[in-house]
Amino acid sequence: MIRELKWNDLDDLVNNYYSYYDELRDTPDFGISFYKKIPDFSSEVEWFTGLYKSVLDGNAVAVVAEEDGRAVGLCEIERIRPGTELEHSGVLGIAVRKGYRGRGIGEAMIKRAIELSKGKFEILKLEVFSVNTGAINLYKRVGFVEYGTFPKAVKRGERYYDVVQMYCTL
Ligand SMILES: CC(C)(COP(=O)(O)OP(=O)(O)OC[C@H]1O[C@@H](n2cnc3c(N)ncnc32)[C@H](O)[C@@H]1OP(=O)(O)O)[C@@H](O)C(=O)NCCC(=O)NCCS
Repeated sequence: MIRELKWNDLDDLVNNYYSYYDELRDTPDFGISFYKKIPDFSSEVEWFTGLYKSVLDGNAVAVVAEEDGRAVGLCEIERIRPGTELEHSGVLGIAVRKGYRGRGIGEAMIKRAIELSKGKFEILKLEVFSVNTGAINLYKRVGFVEYGTFPKAVKRGERYYDVVQMYCTL
């Protein structure tokens, strides 16, 4: 089920986020940029509260995929610097928990988030590791186009990753 964010999604979403740190150990190319130190629970509460507040304030949309009674994925679009000349744009982020990928959940979440963004944002943008070709293809499928590459944008240990920048006009 694809639905909007609820206040009681906090625990599932934090668990999902911590599971991505676990995945990083076996998947060095994992396509999310991480804090060097795993954020503690109180930082996560702060993140969730901030996102929830942004949704209430009309400065974000947040879509959750619920499976087996749990939130297994999140797609959020947050307004860039509200109150400035950049505020017509939103930045998209997305992740689906391992075990639930490759089944259309990501695509369904992005499509819902784009629908909710209409009338709220004029342009969406995102950044994706250039090695994450599956994700890049997914973004193209839902209407994003590439506009550049930031070389060596991510430094993970001794390895650098280029980041592809994409946008979508609503
Ligand atoms: C990228 C991601 C959000 C896509 O969600 P999803 O539910 O797997 O996507 P869908 O099932 O709707 O679409 C599948 C597409 O995603 C791609 N994909 C990327 N990573 C994948 C993975 N680990 N498993 C399965 N599919 C993956 C597939 O190649 C597929 O593209 P294709 O149909 O052209 O082959 C999800 O795979 C994920 O969370 N990956 C790890 C975190 C990440 O990379 N986030 C993106 C940061 S920019």
